[in-house]
Amino acid sequence: MTTNPLPIAVLISGNGSNLQAIIDAITNGLNATIKIVISNNADAFGLRRAEQAEIPTKIIDHTAFKTREAFDDALKNCIESYDVQLVVLAGFMRILSNNFVEHFHGRLINIHPSLLPKYPGLHTHEKVIENKDKKHGITIHFVTNDLDLGPIIAQSKLSVDPDDTAASLKEKIHLLEHRLYPKVLEWISAGRLTLQNDHVLIDGRQAGNVEIS
Ligand code: GRF
Repeated sequence: MTTNPLPIAVLISGNGSNLQAIIDAITNGLNATIKIVISNNADAFGLRRAEQAEIPTKIIDHTAFKTREAFDDALKNCIESYDVQLVVLAGFMRILSNNFVEHFHGRLINIHPSLLPKYPGLHTHEKVIENKDKKHGITIHFVTNDLDLGPIIAQSKLSVDPDDTAASLKEKIHLLEHRLYPKVLEWISAGRLTLQNDHVLIDGRQAGNVEIS
């Protein structure tokens, strides 16, 4: 059965390599369409990637707003004007207010470069090196009001080598991210993934943490 492509908005602040992975996956058959790419940063390289792929872009500069809520309202109204079913955070470096998160409950996902609940927040690769962790990885999760701690959809792990640095881990982590984000979008576009009472269900059954290595 073919279904309509899942309409999504992608929110970025920087390089946009995850955005690129999603664009490439769509080119290669992922059943989704990026209606809009929004950045809070006019210099984000991801905006160029979107333009290159002929995807509409919008800059909503957070510094032009007096409060976080005012910025989030503008963001919300912009997203809603594109009639999307899913909002994909891909390196979007703003903390979103409770109202925004509640408004998009079940339709807002994020990718985070750590094996959550370990290391929410910034500098995850540095923390892995400092703590001499043997494993590192990524998490894709629904966004709730707990920063980086919403219901987990999927994780992917790697082994940390003795000679790894924060920079080498960043590169390796990106490769995992570029595989896993399109995969999760594929599940969502096929209607396989739902969020019920803050539990992630796949094909109607409690998923636990799906892991792809
Ligand atoms: C990724 O590592 C992602 O996990 C984090 O921000 C980074 C964005 O990278 N949230 P890019 O802009 O997609 O290259």
